[in-house]
Parts: sequence; structure tokens; C-alpha cells
Amino acid sequence: MKKFLWSIMLCFLMSCQQQQSSDFCVDEALDYCSDQVNRALTSLRDSTDAYDFTMMPRNILEQDSVWNCRKACSEEWCSGFWPGILWMTFSHNHNEDVWEAAEGYTEALIPVVEAPVYDHDLGFITINSFMKGYEVTHKEHYREIALRAAESLATLFNPTVGTILSWPRHVKDFGGHNTIMDNMMNLELLFWAAREMKSEKLYHIAISHAETTMNNQFREDGSCYHVALYDTLDGHFIKGFTHQGYADSSMWSRGQSWAIYGYTMVYRYSKDARFLEFAQKVTDIYLQRLHETSDDMVPLWDMDDPRGLEAPKDASAACVVASALLELRKYVDGEKSKEYRSKAEQMLCDLSSDRYQSREKNVAFLMHSTGHHPAGSEIDASIIYADYYYLEALLRLKE
Ligand code: GLY
Repeated sequence: MKKFLWSIMLCFLMSCQQQQSSDFCVDEALDYCSDQVNRALTSLRDSTDAYDFTMMPRNILEQDSVWNCRKACSEEWCSGFWPGILWMTFSHNHNEDVWEAAEGYTEALIPVVEAPVYDHDLGFITINSFMKGYEVTHKEHYREIALRAAESLATLFNPTVGTILSWPRHVKDFGGHNTIMDNMMNLELLFWAAREMKSEKLYHIAISHAETTMNNQFREDGSCYHVALYDTLDGHFIKGFTHQGYADSSMWSRGQSWAIYGYTMVYRYSKDARFLEFAQKVTDIYLQRLHETSDDMVPLWDMDDPRGLEAPKDASAACVVASALLELRKYVDGEKSKEYRSKAEQMLCDLSSDRYQSREKNVAFLMHSTGHHPAGSEIDASIIYADYYYLEALLRLKE
């Protein structure tokens, strides 16, 4: 009974949110992002008036107001997001200073991308910097670097398992070949490179990874395990478990958001109806659980955290899902398409409110993301990838 009344209350709150979404203005939100980027660039230039392009914005914790930066290296999975934000900002405001900074931060990643592959995050690093940069500038140099990165990422593929080894450093302690849901995002590099180079090999690696993950790393209802463990030698699936979520059986919001974005993107490149159907399945369970557990369109960091609304939120998951839904809605018909677009708008509306936008508090776009809750790191913080997918979603909505 208590659970029933709770659901009614949440539904009421959600319908209030839906009415507000008509007030949301995408141009205002985009202008806000441009202003925050300018403020961030000013703070990054610091007093010396010069950027250190090798230091990449990563997070802003509660007590801070400017980006904490990390050295761009292959072990820092977030290195590509800041260059990507700059390229997207340039595509909106055509500001020369932003272009120059985008070039500087992107080119600082050349040694990182050309180093021997450290793990699957080479995809995130390359897609968001060189691929985004290539989209905007058409510089052949960026294309060539991204193509080399794709070849390098492909070396992590284990044909017996059928997936990419996400974290080589965890083979020993996890006890085998591991594949994490986040890795779905990095297939974009392989699909794109396969198309550019007409490489059947890269295409088949990406398809095999998506298929094997679809067959093993999800529960009946479409919710995913963060990590799948496989036998390295005979390839059989051993078990699913969590690394960054609340429990092995819980819905870690960002993990599910990677699945939603990932399978939507796989359909973009493959046009295989199985992946479109699956993208909807993983989306629909996310939306259902979101409505059952949150007071707005931004999820708890893990939908099964027993603290309920006392638990921290994860704005980054909402940004990834909003961006994905604005693509997924193009591939489905009628009511479903309208539903996905409307949910994405509601998400962006909530994210653009003073509950989530940082505004004068700090130079990021958004607050209230959660990085690695079990490790106690980046809880309720501004995190660079939330901003990246927020801006991408706004640009997709404007389009
Ligand atoms: N890819 C790491 C994360 O989502 O936290």
C-alpha cells in the first residue's frame, strides 16, 4: 500500500515536471553553455594567459568553483570530453578562441592516442576529441589518428569470447576476460573506422561485441550487469556483476545509460532490427524504473539504492539518456517516437533548472553527478562527461 501511494505521488510530481518542459528553451540553454565555457577557459588560462593543454578538466567538487584537471594520459578515461565540449561549443557559437582551444586540447592527445592501447577507454578518448574535431574541421590528420586508434582498440578483441577485453588490468583479480557495459560506447570508433576504411574486420568485431553483450550481459527485463566475466580460453560466460553500482543485481543508472546510447548507435551503423528492438527494451525498463524511483527525470545514481530519494543523483546518466533518446526517436514510429522525444525534453528541462545547472556556483554546466560511488569518489559532483552529453543532447534537440 505504502509503495502504491509512493508511486502515485511520484506520478503526480512527474506530471508537474512534464508541464514545465514546454517552458524550456534550447537556445537559452546553449547560450548558457557557451558562457560557462568562456568562464572555464578564462580560469584555465589562469594568471599566465596560457593554457596547459595537457591538463584536462575532470570534476568540480562541492567546495570548488573551477575545474580540477588531470594529466591527459591513456589511464585517464575522461581526457577526450573537454576537447569534445569545445568542438561542440564552436559548432554553436563559431568563436575563434574556442576553436583555438579545441585544437590545442585535441592535439595534446596525439601521444595518448598513439600509445599502446591501455584499455577500452581509448574509444571515449578518441571519439570525443579527434572524431568530433574531424566532424567540425575535416582535418585529414584528425581522421588518420582516429583510424589508427580504431586499429589499436581492435587488438583488445578476443575472438573466442566475441567481445573486447575492457580492462586488461583486471584480468587477474576478476578471474578472466571482462567486458563492461561502458564498452558499448566505444564501438562507435570501430563502426566509424570500418565505414571510412571499408574494413569488414572492424565491422565484425563491433557487431560481435554488441551481439555477445546482448546475449549475456542483460537480465530478462532488459536491465544490465555492469561487468560480464568470460573464460578467456573457451569463451563461456561465467557471471555478471557490478563494479560501480550498488549491487550485482541493481540498476546502476549510468551503466544502463551506456546500454541505451550504445545499442541506439549500433542500430545507426548496422540497421539491424534486432538492435533497434533491443535499444527500445533497455530504454523502456530504464524509463519505467526512473518513474518508480525518482522525483524528476534525473535518476538516483543507482535505482536500487535503499536510501531512495536520500541517495545522490546522477545527472550524467540523464544527459547520456537524453542524447540517446533524441537519436532513438528518429528510428521508431508514431507514439513511440513522440514519447522518446518528450521524455528527452523533460530530462533536458529538469537538467536546465536551477536544481542542476551550476550557474554562478562553478564553471561547469551541471552539478549532481556521481562517478564511482562504491569507491567514494566524485559523489554529487560536477563531472566533465555530464557536461559533454548535456551539450550533445541540446545540439541534437536544436537540430
Ligand atoms: N566509464 C566509467 C564510468 O561510467 O564511470
